[in-house]
Amino acid sequence: MSIVEVQNLTKVYKTAFKGNLVTALDNFDLTVNEATIFGLLGKNGAGKTTFVKVLLGIIFPTQGSVKVLSRNPRDYTVRRKIGYLPENHKIPPFLTGESFLHYFGKMAGVDDPTLKKRIPELIDLVRLTRWEKKKIKTYSKGMMQRIGLAQALIHDPELLLLDEPTDGIDPVGRKEIRDILVDLKSKKKTIFINSHILSEVELITDRVAIIDKGKLLQEGRVEDLTRQGNDYLIKSDKNIISAVSTDIVNQFGIMSSPEGSIIKVNNDDELNRFIDLLRSNNVMIREIIHRKQTLEEIFINTVANSGGETK
Ligand SMILES: Nc1ncnc2c1ncn2[C@@H]1O[C@H](COP(=O)(O)OP(=O)(O)O)[C@@H](O)[C@H]1O
Ligand SMILES: [Mg+2]
Repeated sequence: MSIVEVQNLTKVYKTAFKGNLVTALDNFDLTVNEATIFGLLGKNGAGKTTFVKVLLGIIFPTQGSVKVLSRNPRDYTVRRKIGYLPENHKIPPFLTGESFLHYFGKMAGVDDPTLKKRIPELIDLVRLTRWEKKKIKTYSKGMMQRIGLAQALIHDPELLLLDEPTDGIDPVGRKEIRDILVDLKSKKKTIFINSHILSEVELITDRVAIIDKGKLLQEGRVEDLTRQGNDYLIKSDKNIISAVSTDIVNQFGIMSSPEGSIIKVNNDDELNRFIDLLRSNNVMIREIIHRKQTLEEIFINTVANSGGETK
């Protein structure tokens, strides 16, 4: 079942400055399915926060259709089924983790008996046991994000919208958040993450979309996107470039690297043809390794090809 379904979505802001127009989302289609982790990736200003705010019904599209849990986000009953962790969220520092969750729980309309049961469960889920009675001003950035995550879950939502949940957190703290999100996915929650930190989104997301200047550049399974390169590293007994003709070197775009030679092929047939060529040139193959591109590399290539400059 699709949890988010967006078609031809465009959002144009009219700025206070001379009424200039900014197209934050440009004719966007996107579908997020149930019980998946979806990553929306793009550099600062790409339109990620705008997209999440449209899903929340905080801002309205200029054009296009938006369905969240099969409803229009303007329908307030949908909001009850969404948990939201805003970008750079602020928590009153004098509250304890527990009182913060209680306060938000009440605001979300959760009754006291449910909160009594759910707060310790959430504290446990976000690994903050023994910190729940301490003031939030004593929390690290990672702990703030984790208590924020517990707040987003307080009303047991079906869909979680997380805007840059790991921004400014150290690698250990980021790993803790990733582990929690994987836990949540196993509990059939759908998780939508906005992020400009690609290397870690790659580790947990099922699908990603890459956007730049409000345009959707690519969308797909992480494993498919990162397989696009089709580079192979070939380790052999002799230097391949000197063993084959210049024509072959050019045809397969052979490059040397400290570990061996790298070739680019479009399919398995081409790879096999190359292997035959090496054999007929008496090259002894020791190892063939399929080199995937990282999401970071895909992102940089995609954004560069779209004509946007990378930061
Ligand atoms: N309220 C607003 N009014 C005018 N322009 C805005 C407003 N919010 C965001 N923008 C502009 O829309 C674009 C996308 O912003 P945003 O969605 O915050 O991107 P991201 O979250 O990917 O960094 C940017 O150019 C930003 O300056
Ligand atoms: Mg943002």
